[in-house]
Amino acid sequence: MEHVLKVSHVEKIYGKGANTYKALEDISFTIEPGEFVGVMGPSGAGKSTLLNVLATIDSPTSGDILIEADNIAKMKEEKLADFRRDHLGFIFQDYNLLDSLTVRENILLPLAIAKRPAKEIQEKVMTMAQTFGIENLLDKYPYQISGGQKQRTASCRALVSNPKLIFADEPTGALDSKSATDLLESLSSLNLEQEATIMMVTHDAYAASFCRRILFIKDGRLSKEMIRGNHTRKEFFQLILDELAYIGGDGHDLV
Ligand SMILES: Nc1ncnc2c1ncn2[C@@H]1O[C@H](COP(=O)(O)OP(=O)(O)OP(=O)(O)O)[C@@H](O)[C@H]1O
Ligand SMILES: [Mg+2]
Repeated sequence: MEHVLKVSHVEKIYGKGANTYKALEDISFTIEPGEFVGVMGPSGAGKSTLLNVLATIDSPTSGDILIEADNIAKMKEEKLADFRRDHLGFIFQDYNLLDSLTVRENILLPLAIAKRPAKEIQEKVMTMAQTFGIENLLDKYPYQISGGQKQRTASCRALVSNPKLIFADEPTGALDSKSATDLLESLSSLNLEQEATIMMVTHDAYAASFCRRILFIKDGRLSKEMIRGNHTRKEFFQLILDELAYIGGDGHDLV
């Protein structure tokens, strides 16, 4: 099996009857183990819809979505909840941390739910916290830390159970540029060193330049693919800017 994710002819139609909107049309692509893939496209193109459908948060109208051997497009809701918990990781723009739990407790939650041994939990939490540079914050509460630190906490939580696939929707959207860079560098090193497979939606060319491959969506369809190959991150950044200028990306996203 070569793929972590294999998407075939996925379509998503919102609404019913006369009042329908086709948000995704005939989307097909594959993600291999250890890839770091970006999804870009204008506002309203269908990026979040695609991510939500692939991440089992929403269901496709038609098409197949294989995560390794499991077709999640055909899976029943109760099985999906287990599948999501056991195999997928999520990083959202607004962190989704639990305010009543410490950073440590937030991070270990998926392992506690999975009933992993205490020693393993402790070790995993420490490894993740070190990767993301928040080992000194483990006993603080979310209201005591910055936005960037919250997002690094959320990322640790998403990754602590070694998910097959990590989905991130605009993870740097609410961060200042220093925090965004820290987060992107941590995600890159996880991708390179632990071969985490990551799919990240972003409208930001700088964030996208950390990916190895970018899928562009326009009007609900895949319009182009860019591969970083041997380019440096900076060169790739410039190529993405050129592409956005060509297809008419939002000007304010280009700074
Ligand atoms: N629940 C819904 N019901 C009806 N239409 C929806 C729904 N969610 C999204 N849409 C529509 O589907 C299209 C794609 O939305 P989506 O949120 O996927 O865009 P996006 O590419 O993530 O945009 P942005 O960059 O602004 O986040 C939009 O036209 C949107 O209005
Ligand atoms: Mg979106």
